[in-house]
Formats: sequence, structure tokens, C-alpha cells
Amino acid sequence: MGMGSCRTSSQDTVREKYDTEAESYSRGSNQFVTAIRSFPILSFLLFAGCAANSGVEVVGDNFETPQPAKKLVIAHRGASGYLPEHTIAAKAMAYAQGADYIEQDLVMTKDDRLVVLHDRHLDTVTDVASVFPGRARDDGRYYVIDFTLDEIRQLSVSERFELEDRVATPVFKDRFPLWKSSFRVHTFSEEIELIQGLNKSTGKSVGLYPEIKSPAFHRDEGKDIASAALDVLSEYGYTSQSDDVFLQCFDPYELQRIHADLMPAKEMDLLLIQLIAASEEYQSLLSADGMKQLATFVDGIGPSALLLVEKDSTASGIRTTGLTAFAHAAGLKVHPYTFRRERDQMPPYAKDYDDLLTIFFDEVGVDGVFTDFPDLTVQFLENRR
Ligand code: G3P
Ligand code: CA
Repeated sequence: MGMGSCRTSSQDTVREKYDTEAESYSRGSNQFVTAIRSFPILSFLLFAGCAANSGVEVVGDNFETPQPAKKLVIAHRGASGYLPEHTIAAKAMAYAQGADYIEQDLVMTKDDRLVVLHDRHLDTVTDVASVFPGRARDDGRYYVIDFTLDEIRQLSVSERFELEDRVATPVFKDRFPLWKSSFRVHTFSEEIELIQGLNKSTGKSVGLYPEIKSPAFHRDEGKDIASAALDVLSEYGYTSQSDDVFLQCFDPYELQRIHADLMPAKEMDLLLIQLIAASEEYQSLLSADGMKQLATFVDGIGPSALLLVEKDSTASGIRTTGLTAFAHAAGLKVHPYTFRRERDQMPPYAKDYDDLLTIFFDEVGVDGVFTDFPDLTVQFLENRR
């Protein structure tokens, strides 16, 4: 039985919490030292109870999925440490740097096209406010879903910025400069064609790592983004667990719907990843039982790196939280986010980027990492061979 038949208004309220963007971007913020944000607590029991009523067993056959021997380098929004995030240039650079998988965050346009953008808004990476003045909603934001693909293609893309008194200030001051060169928003299909084209011309097999953004928001706007994403993946030949794709989402209800309803209806069976932010709404998942529950419908977790190492760890005393062990015991892969080389983006217990990778690959035991710097991560892993 799918989630649709047992969804309650309480669940819909809860699901809106999963639409929160995982990382807030303010200049100088450090994901590793930022306190865990406070959200209304999700009762996972609500979800678990629904699963039980649906006849879903607590421990599924994914329990025995073998862990991959190769540690995966997942290019977070492309080689976003070097070029504006989610641009075709950033994806081509990530490919050339040797990433195993390249990430696509997906949102939908007014005319039902999937574009590769992190936010449901356009105003922190494009010049939408200049090109389409007066098209913001009452909250002052310019929503992707209010624009057609043709309109979005008219926009210039920049390195990410925030606005202070109408002045754009870069989020990462030492990265690609704002508004230089020429970058455009592209569709999910165009990015798949880039990666498949490079796979043909190089003989490699780099995979996709798409994320369905804000499914509850899209549903409220009359759009089924998960179904649309699956249709594009199927069109390009990604239908089974052997097809080099991990499909990720922060919303567990949407992932269960994909697992139980959408993929069977479309004769698909892709590997699924439950994203887990360092916020209160996910607290009830961070246990052995929580991981066993997830293993009934996903194949791995993509947690904030904050959730894997105790924040009071020191260089000489790294203490893991146990979440990786719980996940592995449940047969789940562990792909934390986001690994960056900038000192102000690193936890105090890591001496440098290589030390950070040593801690997470060797002491925590993760199976792969989302990184803005695929080249450094590939080099690190090659040096250990
Ligand atoms: O999807 C995993 C990683 O990308 C972290 O989430 O907020 O950067 O899309 P976000
Ligand atoms: Ca993402």
C-alpha cells in the first residue's frame, strides 16, 4: 500500500519541513560549527505507524546489500569549488577531474521542465531581478516554478551570492568571481546528454546523482516532480539498480512513494538515498531502529557530515556518533555532505582537507562523499592505493 492511502493532514504539515533547503548560505557560515537548527520535532512514529499499517516489514531485503569496495567521489553541484554551481562547465570539469558521480539538484519550471538548480528560487544565482522585475512573489523571491524554460534560458548564472542592501556579495569569497564569463541554466536532459556523451567519448561510466527538491512544495503547486524525474531517467535508460544512478531526497514520505508506488508502476528499480539534515526533524531516524526502518525503502543515507562525528571531537580524539555503524548494520550505504577545502568550511578537529578525508574514510568508514572539490578527493584516494 502506498503512502497516498494513509497520508494525514498532520503528515502533510510534517512533509513541508522536509522542503527546507539543507544548507543555509550566509557568508562566513561553517556547516561544521553551526549549531543544529531547531525545527518542530518530527514524530517518525507517525511515519513508521503508517508503514506498519501498509504491511511494510521493518527489516527488508536490502539488509543484505553488500557494501561497495570503491569509495565514491560525488561531485556536489559539479566542480563547484572552481566554477559556478550546477553549470554545464562545472559538470564537465567535475567529469574531467575523475568524479564517480555528478549531482543534479532538480526543480520544475512553470511549463513542467526539470532544470538543474539547487534552490526553488532563482535570485541567488541568476540576474532574474534585473531581467524580470516585478515577477517576485510577495516574499520578494523569484520562484523557478513561476517561469517558463524559455524565460529561464534568458538569465545569466553567476557564482552564488547573497544580497546586502541590493549589493551582491559572494558566499565563497575565494571562488569563481561573480558575473564573469557566460553561464546559463540547463535542463536535466541536457546534463544527462553531457554525461552520457562524455561516457561514450572517454569510455568511462560516470553516474548521475539527482536530487528531487521540495516535493511537497511542487505538489502544492500542482506538479509531481518525482514522477517527472523518473520519466526523464527512464527515457535515458536509467531503470535498474545497475544503471549508475542514485536518486536522493530529503523527504522520507516521497522516497517511500517512489519505492512503493512510482517505480513499480513505471517498471523501474533505482537505488534510493535518504538525505538527512542536521536538524531536529530527523532526530528520530538517528538510531539503529531508524536505519532499519529506512532500509525498507532506501539503499543508503546522505547525512550531513555533522551527524557522523561528535562536534566536540579533537584532532587527537575523534569520536564517531555511531550513525555510520547503524546504517551499515542495516545494509545502507553512507554518503555524507559536504566536503570543502576552505579552512572556514572545515571542522576544527581536521588539520586540512586531506586530514578531513582521512577521518571520514578511515575512522568513520563512509562509502563516499559529496565534495565541491572532486580533484582533491580523487587524488587523495589515488595516493592511498
Ligand atoms: O544532496 C546532498 C547534498 O547536496 C546536500 O544537500 O542542500 O547541497 O542539496 P544540498
Ligand atoms: Ca543536493
